[in-house]
Amino acid sequence: MELADINTITVLGAGNMGHGIAEVAALAGYDVNLRDINEEFVQNGYDQIEWSVGKLAEKDQISESDADAALDRVTTYVDLADSVSEADVVIEAVPEKMDIKKDVYTELEAAAPDHTVFATNTSSLSITELANVTDRPEQFCGMHFFNPPVRMQLVEVISGAETSAETMDLVSDLAEAMGKTPVRVHKDSPGFIVNRILVPLMNEAAWIVESGDATVEEVDSTTKYGIGIPMGSFELADQVGIDVGYHVLQYMHEVLGDAYEPCPLLEEKVEAGNLGKKTGRGFYDYE
Ligand code: CAA
Repeated sequence: MELADINTITVLGAGNMGHGIAEVAALAGYDVNLRDINEEFVQNGYDQIEWSVGKLAEKDQISESDADAALDRVTTYVDLADSVSEADVVIEAVPEKMDIKKDVYTELEAAAPDHTVFATNTSSLSITELANVTDRPEQFCGMHFFNPPVRMQLVEVISGAETSAETMDLVSDLAEAMGKTPVRVHKDSPGFIVNRILVPLMNEAAWIVESGDATVEEVDSTTKYGIGIPMGSFELADQVGIDVGYHVLQYMHEVLGDAYEPCPLLEEKVEAGNLGKKTGRGFYDYE
C-alpha cells in the first residue's frame, strides 16, 4: 500500500491519546473512525475533539470551516468490527496493559481487511509481542504520539522484529502527512527512546518528594526553570496521566530491572484514582 491509498484511519480507544490522534488525522484530511467500548467513552472523545478544534479556530490556528470539516470527518463507533471494516490503517490507543491490547488485537485480526496496517500507540510495550498476536507482524509497527497530540511534533515509529521496511516507510510517511516529524526507532526496547528518558525523570522527581527532600512545587520549579522543559515533572505527570507513567514504569521495572522501580507516591495516586488532569486531580487540582 502507498500513502496515497490511505483514506480511512480507525483509531481504537477514545481516551486522551486516542481522541487526540483522531483529531490530528481528521485535520490532515483523513476519514476517521473513532471507536471505544461504550457510547459514553466514545462521545466524550468526540466532545474533546470538538473542544480542541474549537480552541484552535478561536486562536486562528485553523479556520472555522477547517474545524467543522475535521469534525465532520470523524465517525464514532462502539462495535469494533464495524469500525475497521474499511480501515486502511488502524491506530490502537487502548489502555497500556499487555492483556487488554492482546485481546483487542485478537478481535482486530479477525475483523480487519487483509491490507490493513496496524500501528500501536503503546508508550512502552513490546511491539514484537503485540504483533505476534496477529497474522500480519510484517504489517505492524509502533506509532507513538505525544500528549497532547495536536500540539506535539514528534512521532516515534517503532519496528518490531518482523515489521517490513514498507510498513516503516508507509507509517513514517503517514506521520509526515499528519504534519508530524517521525523518528524511526529500530530497537523494540521498553519505553523506546522518549519514555526511557522522560518516565524515569518523573519517577526520580517522585522519589525526591517521597523522601522528604523537596516539595512538589520546588521540584517543578527546578525542572521547568533549571532544566528547561516546558512543564514541571509533576505537571507533566498530570498532563500525560499518572497511571500511564506508572504502567510504563512497572513494565520497565519488570524488563529492565530495579533502576526503574516505581515510586510509591505514584502508586498511591493511581490507587486513589487521582490520575491528573483527566480526573480533575493529580499532583495538582484542576477543578
Ligand atoms: N487542543 C487545543 N488547545 C489546547 C490543547 C489541545 N489539545 N491543550 C491545551 N490547549 C490550549 C489550552 O487550553 C490553553 O488555552 P488558553 O490559552 O485559552 O487557556 C493553551 O492551549 C495553552 O497553550 P500555550 O501555547 O499558551 O501553552 P504552552 O506554551 O504551555 O503549551 C504545551 C502547552 C504544548 C502542552 C506545552 O506545555 C508542552 O509542550 N508541554 C510538554 C508536553 C510534553 O512533554 N508532552 C509529552 C509527554 S510524554 C508522552 O506523551 C509520552 C507517553 O507515552 C507518556
